[in-house]
Amino acid sequence: MKKVTKAVFPVAGMGTRFLPATKANPKEMLPIVDKPLIQYAVDEALAAGITELIFITGRTKRSIEDHFDKAYELETELEARGKKELLDIVRKTIPSHVNCIYIRQAEALGLGHAVLRAAPVVSEDEAFAVLLADDLLDNGGGEPVLKQMIDVYYYNRCSILGTMNVPREETRQYGIVSVEENAAGDSLRVKGIVEKPAPEKAPSTQAVVGRYILTPRIFDHLRAIKPGAGGELQLTDAIASLLQCEAVLAHQFAGVRYDCGSKLGYLQATVELGWRHPEIGADFAAWLERRHAGSAGKKTGKA
Ligand code: UTP
Repeated sequence: MKKVTKAVFPVAGMGTRFLPATKANPKEMLPIVDKPLIQYAVDEALAAGITELIFITGRTKRSIEDHFDKAYELETELEARGKKELLDIVRKTIPSHVNCIYIRQAEALGLGHAVLRAAPVVSEDEAFAVLLADDLLDNGGGEPVLKQMIDVYYYNRCSILGTMNVPREETRQYGIVSVEENAAGDSLRVKGIVEKPAPEKAPSTQAVVGRYILTPRIFDHLRAIKPGAGGELQLTDAIASLLQCEAVLAHQFAGVRYDCGSKLGYLQATVELGWRHPEIGADFAAWLERRHAGSAGKKTGKA
């Protein structure tokens, strides 16, 4: 059985929740402190042994290609000015042994439609990863989430969904899985999956977030499904169909998820990673503390 070496990054969504910032740029290029979201997801994939990055891009694809391309002019300029540290940062966006493939999704017809675009570059005997870069998954210094999932894949050799527990009132925002009963552990067999169920209809509170290891059989199911929620081809519907034919596991990962496709989650990630940032973390933390003290004073009328 082959190793998992390919990762698909669907980056062709409309990003309507971040307009106008996403008018000319994909939301995956929004920075958290000094790195775009897509770079966090790519770094997570590289740490899990991925060597081929497949970007499914849309109308605003240029900046992602440029980000992972060699920047000759910038590098020459930095070299001429003796800015060695900055030069290293620019050169390190992607290691030389890693290959990037760009595939266009002409219309944003849904996540399932985006993933299906990768079929021509994934062979019939290899599982592959899918990472949604707007879900920033942070496990501090611990094992990155995709690495956790690939280890589960090597043990079980079936599709793995990254999941986390969410408050019941939020089930409408996620794909929700039902898992086998009376089983224990972090990786449980999925019995069913539904897209964005109402809280009273949700089969559980285990939500799928933007990390998947999928067997190539998923492409047959993606070809067969009809548009689902929101009139889009839903990856969730194809997974629901896949699990009728083969095992799918839900892996409750270790780590924190920031929903950077929403303004609140994006700001939370910015504060958390800014607070821990090696260069500005201490100053930022001190400012936050002063700010917090100031606003607390204002609320009680003392400032
Ligand atoms: P979202 O559901 O967050 O949709 O997509 P969106 O269009 O990006 O954002 P909003 O809701 O309008 O603000 C989840 C992931 O799937 C990708 C997105 O880029 C994002 O990473 N996607 C979605 C595609 O690549 N193509 C699509 O047709 C839809």
